[in-house]
Amino acid sequence: MTVRTYTKLHLIVYLAIFTVCIVTLKAILHKSTSEPRRRNESPNLEIEISDFRVEEQSVDFEEQTEVSLIDTGFVKELPFYRARLDRRRLIKIYDWVWTGERWDELLSSFSICLSTQGSMDRIMSVPELVEAWRGPVSLAVYITNPNEWVGLNLLVNHYRKCHPLFRDYVSIHLAIPVQIENTWTADLQQLEDEEEAEKFVTSFTNLPCTTSDKVLQHMIKKIQANEDSKLLMENYPQNHMRNIAEKACGTEWTFSTDIDIIPRPDSATLLQDFILTDYVQECQQCAFVVPTFELDIKQSYPASKKELVQLWNSSLAQPFHFDVFLKAHNATNYKRWARTNLGEEPIKVSHKATRKYMQYYEPFYISPSNIPEFQERFIGYGFTRSSQTQEALTEGWKFQVLTPVFAIHWGLQNRETLINPGNEKIIRRRQTFFNRRIFKRFMIELELRRKLKQEANYEEKHGTTPDFSKY
Ligand SMILES: *[C@@H]1O[C@H](CO)[C@@H](O)[C@H](O)[C@H]1NC(C)=O
Ligand SMILES: *[C@@H]1O[C@H](CO)[C@@H](O)[C@H](O)[C@H]1NC(C)=O
Repeated sequence: MTVRTYTKLHLIVYLAIFTVCIVTLKAILHKSTSEPRRRNESPNLEIEISDFRVEEQSVDFEEQTEVSLIDTGFVKELPFYRARLDRRRLIKIYDWVWTGERWDELLSSFSICLSTQGSMDRIMSVPELVEAWRGPVSLAVYITNPNEWVGLNLLVNHYRKCHPLFRDYVSIHLAIPVQIENTWTADLQQLEDEEEAEKFVTSFTNLPCTTSDKVLQHMIKKIQANEDSKLLMENYPQNHMRNIAEKACGTEWTFSTDIDIIPRPDSATLLQDFILTDYVQECQQCAFVVPTFELDIKQSYPASKKELVQLWNSSLAQPFHFDVFLKAHNATNYKRWARTNLGEEPIKVSHKATRKYMQYYEPFYISPSNIPEFQERFIGYGFTRSSQTQEALTEGWKFQVLTPVFAIHWGLQNRETLINPGNEKIIRRRQTFFNRRIFKRFMIELELRRKLKQEANYEEKHGTTPDFSKY
């Protein structure tokens, strides 16, 4: 036996042992994550949050956890088998998981509803939003794992306890990726043992209403997303979520916003009065833009349009995405808006949005809910709202800018502050890249539709087909 073959043999033996070790380790690890653990076996607490139980789970464990979370009402039971699917069967939708306590009453006096959406950690702006809006709010929340479900329950319970308007005016719908199994086991690994988990839940439910968002966020972080759901969260289906929230409104008019857009105080009532004017009642296919500004976080919410314009003048406010992507809102013509109706008269139209700058237009606006829905072919970032504007324009909708109503996004944004560098930047770039291609094809579709519409109109008028070589 030469030294060389000897070494080779050694190497093979070592490799074999190494492989066996890895396989065994993997098996152990897999076993420990896929099988529910018994009480004393592990420091991790697993909480069964569904009423559909995993058979092999020990009775002891089941009783313990169900008493602490479901039966006490800390965590809702989610009726897994009552989900509806979206058209592409990407997500399961649960409508009316929480219904605003005064929803029926509200909808008898409002024909407009604010629809918005977000992931669990972004609903912290909803209390402020509903306090400002003071009308029905339809909120769609996206969750990708059982821990978030627990977290969402804790947050919603806290807000419902502490903010009467949140309890009365906000209805919450849920969307969950289809990949997520029906039977959930929350794995609160960040908490050392079940006693600690119980303590955590109890302390959360006893939080005073004065607790800051920062503290809430910190607490929720303890039980937040595991690595598995990161990818699902990265592919947040914005347009699905917008449609879910908007359709659940059930009102003739909707105001579809992003979750961190805060309308000026009492907007719902002001807009409701506007909707009832003859002008609006007679306006066909009209969408009304609510000018939206970014505001320096150290400022307080402007009490009037005049104050807001002054803040803009001192660079403490700026049109939404002014620095990030000017074209997204440029057609609103903020400069013109700043000159009109500086008094606080009832809401009226300031001017028409500029047709010329509408290529990437994505304003926040109120409209009858029969405006084209958001295209669910776009997932993640890029062209999610502008594609909808383009479709609305093709269908003949007109955009007019309202005054003196407005909305605020907290914090001045620029390209650097908007996106965390690193991974998030890469993801956004990739999604935008794919969505741009989808957008191009979508625009071709719209162009065809426009031509077909033209043809139909022509035929109706003249009883003949137009010469298409002219277009
Ligand atoms: C903006 O500021 C300038 C001075 O910097 C002032 O002359 C002007 O009146 C201000 N405009 C408004 C609308 O406040
Ligand atoms: C934005 O709109 C203004 C007019 O309101 C126009 O002068 C300017 O060129 C537009 N900018 C872009 C990038 O579209």
